[in-house]
Parts: sequence; C-alpha cells; structure tokens
Amino acid sequence: MRPRITDTTLRDAHQSLWATRMRTEDMIPVLEKIDQVGYHSLEMWGGATFDVCIRYLNEDPWERIRTIKKYVKRTPLQMLLRGQNLVGYANYPDDVAMAFVDMAAETGIDIFRVFDALNDVRNLEVPMKAVKKTGKHLQACVVFTLSPVHTNEHYLETALHLQELGADSICIKDMAGMISPYQAYELVKLLKEKLTVPVQLHTHYIGGMAIGACLKAVEAGVDAFDACSGPLAFGSSQPPVETLVRALQGTQWDTGLDIPLLFEISNYWEELRRKRGYERGVTRISDMKVFDHQVPGGMISNLVSQLEEQNALHRINEVLEEIPKVRADLGYPPLVTPTSQLVGIQAVFNVLTGSRYKMVAQEVKNYVKGYYGRPPAPIAEDIQKLIIGDEEPITCRPADLLENKFEKMKEEIKDLAESEEDYLTYALFPAVARKFFEYRKKVRDGEIVQPQLAEEKQETAKPAAQAGGSGKAGSRRPSRRMSQSSMEDGTMDIEDIKDLIQMLDQTTVNEVQVETAGIRVAIRKGIIGGQFSETPLNTPAADAPAAATEKVEVTEKEEKAEELPDNLVEVTAPMVGTFYRAPSPDSPPFVEVGSTVKKGDTLCIIEAMKLMNEIEAECDGKIIDILVENAQPVEFGQVLFLIAPVE
Ligand code: CO
Repeated sequence: MRPRITDTTLRDAHQSLWATRMRTEDMIPVLEKIDQVGYHSLEMWGGATFDVCIRYLNEDPWERIRTIKKYVKRTPLQMLLRGQNLVGYANYPDDVAMAFVDMAAETGIDIFRVFDALNDVRNLEVPMKAVKKTGKHLQACVVFTLSPVHTNEHYLETALHLQELGADSICIKDMAGMISPYQAYELVKLLKEKLTVPVQLHTHYIGGMAIGACLKAVEAGVDAFDACSGPLAFGSSQPPVETLVRALQGTQWDTGLDIPLLFEISNYWEELRRKRGYERGVTRISDMKVFDHQVPGGMISNLVSQLEEQNALHRINEVLEEIPKVRADLGYPPLVTPTSQLVGIQAVFNVLTGSRYKMVAQEVKNYVKGYYGRPPAPIAEDIQKLIIGDEEPITCRPADLLENKFEKMKEEIKDLAESEEDYLTYALFPAVARKFFEYRKKVRDGEIVQPQLAEEKQETAKPAAQAGGSGKAGSRRPSRRMSQSSMEDGTMDIEDIKDLIQMLDQTTVNEVQVETAGIRVAIRKGIIGGQFSETPLNTPAADAPAAATEKVEVTEKEEKAEELPDNLVEVTAPMVGTFYRAPSPDSPPFVEVGSTVKKGDTLCIIEAMKLMNEIEAECDGKIIDILVENAQPVEFGQVLFLIAPVE
C-alpha cells in the first residue's frame, strides 16, 4: 500500500521555524507546482496562522483560503482546529465554534484536523459535530506525549471514542517529536488493528527521530504521514518530504511522488528563505533532550524570546529543567497550544521569581480550576491548594459555562465589519480584529499605503510561476507614503511611526532608532495590535539593557533619580512586561495613592509573555506613591509602588 503525504509547508513548518510569518503572496508563485505533486492534502490554515495574519501581517486569513483555492485545484486543503479553542488560545462559546467551522468549510477547507490538548473528548464534541454537519472530512487527533498516564491503551481508548463520534480518520499528533520509531510502529499497528478508519502520523523533527518514526509507521501500515519541503524542514519543524520519498522509493511503500518536482519546489522555498534571512531548522543539544523536557516545536523559540524579553536567556536550562516538574504537578498535560504556554510560563515564573508558584498566571489558575478540561492525571492536593486555594474545580464540559455571544459580538463591530467572515474574525480576536479592520479601511481610503517590503525594493518583479498565475503574484505594490526625509528631518509624526512599525513587522529588521524633536525613539518589531503611547516615558534610558518589549518606547534622555526614605517598602516588577493599574480599561484601578492595603491585596497587573499576572502586596500598609503610568512597559526590578508599612 502506498502511504499518502500531507504537506505542512504552508502551516506547521513556517509556524515552527519562521514564527508563522509566511504571507499569502509568498505562497502564490509555487502553489500550482505543489498542486501537481499528488499530496494527500495541504495543511495551510489554522493553528497560529489566523492570529498572525491579522496581528502581524495585516492579511485577511479568509482571503488566504480563497487565494490558495484558486491555484490548488486537485489537492484537498486542510486546517488545524484547536478543538473548542478554534484558532485561538481559550474556549469559545458553541455558537462561535459552529459558525467558524461552517465558514471555513464554505470558504474552501476540505479536511479539518481537530485536537484537544488534554485529549478531553468533551472539548471536541461541538467542533466535531460542526465539521460533520458541513460534510467535510473530519480528522480527529490523539495527542501524543510521554507520561505515566499516556499509554497505548489511553491512546486507543481516545481514538475509539473519537471514531465513535464520527471521525473519518485519526491522526497521532506528536507535536514535540517525541515518538520514537519503535513506539510509532507499535502504536500505529495497534490503531490499525482496532480502528476501521485510516490512521495518519503527524510528528516533528525536533529531536531527530521523525524520519525513523515515519518509516516505521509506514511499515506498520500508516495510511498517511506529514512532511514538508526541505528548506522548511528539520529543527522544530516536520521531516523533509524529499528524504522520506526517496527512502521509500523502490519499496512496497513507494509513494510514487516525483522527486525532481519536489526539488523544484524546494528551490523556490530556499530562495525565499535566503531572501528573508530565516535560519534553517537545526537540532540543538537541548532539542535532543526533548525526552526530558518535552518542549514542542515552536515552544522552545517562544521560551527563548520570552527569556530574552526578561533579560534572562542564560537561565534557559533551569527553565527546561523546571518544565517537567511543573508538568507533573499539573497532571501531565501534553505540551501543545495552549497547555504548552501555561506550563512554559509557569516554569519561567518559578525560575525567575526563585519561588515555586509564588506567582501564578491567571491562565494556570483557570487550568487547575478545570476550565481547559480534565487534566490527564489528577492534580496533587497540595499543588492545587497552592494555586487556587480552597476553590473547587469544575467538573462539566468547560464550554457549558460559556454563553453564546456571537450575535452580541456582531452588534459590537457592525460598523467596521464588511462581511460574515469579519464578524467571525472579530468574535475570535476582538481587539486585534478591530485594529486590523481600521488599518484595512485606512489603506483603502488612501490614508496609509501598504508598506513595501524591504527585500522587494531591489528586486525586479518576478512573474507568476506558471501560466494562469494571476497578476497579483507579479504585481508591484505601491511604495510607502512615508518619505525617507521625514525621518531624517526630525518631523516624524505618529502616523509615520505607525507606518514604520507596520514595515518592520514584515522585514527581518528588529529595531530602528530615530531621533525626532530631541527624543530618541526606539521602534521595535512586533507591536501591531499592541498598545501605542504618544506620551514620553520615564523609564531608564539609553544605558538600560535592550529588552524586546513589543512596545514603542519614547524615552527621555534625562533620568530622574529618586531619593527614597528608608522605611518605605518598594514593590518591584518581578518581570519585564506592561503595567496595568486596573483589571480592564473600564474598571477602577486596584489602588490609588493613599489607599490602605492588606497583605495579599492585588496592586496591579503586569502583563508579561501574553499573560496577566496580578501583583500582590506583601505587607499591610498605605500606598505612598505609584511610580508607573498605566499601560506602560516596565523593566525587571523597576519600582512600581511605594508602601508605608503598618505593623
Ligand atoms: Co505540529
């Protein structure tokens, strides 16, 4: 039997290696070639691509499906759906889930790969039902990980349950590349014996075993496996399709795929990779230790950037050692979005604060309360108490607690939404979607000209790869509105800065510094959709270590030195992040100058690594001063409050 191959280059591969930054126009020139290969499917949507499209690329993710569909006529298009989390990071209400799946199917998705990080089948019920209703192929995942509770029996039981719920095929989803060739053989063999539906293997190269795992899975009778084009393979990504096709050539499992054609396609991606300055996927020693720390593809690079943000990259090994401990504490959740973030962040907190669970992210509390589903193993009582105190975890399907809200959300955005898709984009990521819609409108009204990409400037337009390619692939974008001179003569206005940020996000440049009106402005990558401040800050200036705080910092040159009386207690920022005085923009601040606080009272929130962390008073006292403005970036150790303690 010939195993079939799913190409993940357009989704998982660039999500794992290029921070999901591949744009639709990067794909267009090679799509028709890819369509000729004879792949089982192309994974090209879902996962992080949706969020990144609107947050960083100013692209409409729905338009991406339509565009790809235009060029890919034979090969089924596949998306990754994170169960009730859809393409986000937390559960959405059932009405949003149903509408989202409907729209994805209608727009062109043929295969839905659905998973729940905890293998809690209750979280898959509604999304699976939604896919079944569309009549499209429903592939349900068994998430693979290593733990005392993740046995072949557990996987089989989960897979049988999913088959019963209507799965058209089952995918073994090994997001951290932990399945060894022989485990793959045993598990595939077991599932093939007991299931009636096809079985697919999704794994990552990260620790170097993926090629072996795929080959042994093929021997055990796997129906399909995932791979990607060489230039985006290896490292934390998928195994290279070229190698796997060649390895099977001439055997009873020959895939029959055209190797010269595969290399024509890899040449295209290699050229794009060089142009963008992206690294090849590499396997580091820490990756080969994946069996100890179990950190999946994509998560290590996240941890690295989070630790860089905290000026604590040198502590990566401590964090990697802490991760399995936190994971055991939390009942062995597989490390995949969103549980990978929870475990990773908590490990970072435990290491950086020097005290385990002294600081617990709200999301980790929610996990322990059961809002993500049932942990694979029960959480030890003492750990639970440390994290949520005397609160009782819920026992129902988490989304049962969510009220349908799609109609209400539609109402909120009806002025800016231009289509049914827009309503869904808004329902998924309200704040980011609103910014994206506003930006899109400005582009259309000519107020902003789409930034031209740096690498395209010196290149001549490349014609679309094949006949039939639309004009879009080869068309030139208009040049940027902001003139070079406006930067040099110090007359940059806030719109210029916003433009510059948009441009940075689409290049490999991380930071530019400009001086305007005597103020040094560091503009860093990654802030589209982030906060934007027009007021100068009093943060430590030029000599402070550069922290990638995804913010625009307008730093005054002079730093004010504060002389502090001895008896005051300083409350400092436990990490680099953004300071918030209130739980939400509409609510009153937690404390004011003059407020009396008790030990344990919440003083503020520091948003770090995309999570909200409440900072509590460590003594009873009176707030004497609040040293940071709301919504401003703070450095590690920066004083936030001064408290006069009372005995
Ligand atoms: Co993956």
